[in-house]
Amino acid sequence: MSQHALPPCQEKAKSRRSFLELAAQGMGAVATVVLGWPLVQYFAGNWKRNDDVWVALGKVQDFPENETRRVGFLNPYRHPWDGDAAKGEAFVRKLPQSGAEKDNFLVLSVNCTHLGCGVSWFPESGLFLCPCHGGVYYENGERASGPPPRGLYHYDWRIVEGLLEIRSPHLPTLQDTLTNNPKTEEE
Ligand code: FES
Repeated sequence: MSQHALPPCQEKAKSRRSFLELAAQGMGAVATVVLGWPLVQYFAGNWKRNDDVWVALGKVQDFPENETRRVGFLNPYRHPWDGDAAKGEAFVRKLPQSGAEKDNFLVLSVNCTHLGCGVSWFPESGLFLCPCHGGVYYENGERASGPPPRGLYHYDWRIVEGLLEIRSPHLPTLQDTLTNNPKTEEE
């Protein structure tokens, strides 16, 4: 045995300590990656510009004329941890045929233009009501009364192979109100 060699029991304890240190470092590295990855994705997502895509809301024939329906859809750029935040909704109303326009739709955002609360549709009165501060909108989405500064935002929509689609995740804002721009397969 050399002059600096440790007794066998101390050697054993030293190698156990080294192993435990390595294991702790390894677990720390794994935890950093697991917990940090969503943050990296979040910040990367803020830099990356997502292009708008068209999301199907349903078959054209599934929307009866002059009936407003609340339709859900999933954000095409959702992350596994988004939960309910990945879900979107729109009010869809099939309008009567006007002139050569065979299928005509009104697709409105469900969010109040005051502070963004979800509005509800009341077919009996033909009004959308906001539960937060009493904003009221007519059935065509125009502002009727209350604090909202304008009517409900319109989604861009189009019809492709018999499916009604909206442009998403392009959300309406005061600067970009998503003026309706219908495009049909007949074009
Ligand atoms: S959020 Fe709708 S009236 Fe205020």
